[in-house]
Amino acid sequence: MNEKPIGFLDSGVGGLPYFAWLRQKAPAERYVYAADRANFPYGEKTKEAVLDIVESTARKLIERTDPKILIVACNTASVVALERLRERFSIPIVGTVPAIKPAAARSRRKRIGLLATMRTVNDAYVDRLVEQFASDCEVVRIAGPDIVSFVEKRFFDSGAEEKLAIVRDAAAEFGRASVDEIVLACTHFLYLADEIRELAGPGVEVMDSREGVGSRALAVLGEKGRSGASGRGSAELFVTGPDPVEESYDRFARYFGMEIGGTLP
Ligand code: DGL
Repeated sequence: MNEKPIGFLDSGVGGLPYFAWLRQKAPAERYVYAADRANFPYGEKTKEAVLDIVESTARKLIERTDPKILIVACNTASVVALERLRERFSIPIVGTVPAIKPAAARSRRKRIGLLATMRTVNDAYVDRLVEQFASDCEVVRIAGPDIVSFVEKRFFDSGAEEKLAIVRDAAAEFGRASVDEIVLACTHFLYLADEIRELAGPGVEVMDSREGVGSRALAVLGEKGRSGASGRGSAELFVTGPDPVEESYDRFARYFGMEIGGTLP
């Protein structure tokens, strides 16, 4: 049995629901997660900046924890930097691709909404995904930078009404466009999936890439990780940037049953 951990990387807490999905399938594994708090948010940076930042943060996590696989649980980082990471590091790297293909296959009206960061919405990678898998669909792209920072900074301090309010405009725009599939193409948005679903109303599916990413990771790990093994496994949350770390990261760690691993300076 390979005792090395499974690594996760995101600009912040967005990838945690992806980690949680995999941990449920493979609970005896060791998990290490890097929240790149020092460089948050990725979505408003240039492509060149995201390339360098993601490479450098991946290197810090790899040097510190020696993972057997790295899951880039961030659409922005994956869309921009997956190739670069695969060039630079020898461990298997699994990326998070916007779920345009399954959404297009399922859409009856052939109208899809894509909610992502500015960087992802404007990236040629998404143009290619649309061309390849959704050429028969109208794809309405909306960037939600305010939603990203809301989740990162305010999620635990906000009430139900505030959570609905932050996604109301996007949901209304998708409603006007009559989409019947909404793709959450930024991992941070999974935290507000219920609110988006509620505002979108019946007949509209809200989807993300958890199953695709998690299944791919399990396949790469072989024999479904260590899910059949005994033992409880472990999970550590690392954050980049200087101390002191905001208390919200402790709250996210507790919420997801993780220990604080410390900072990646
Ligand atoms: N969670 C990220 C994504 O999936 C990026 C959020 C950000 O840092 O802008 O795109």
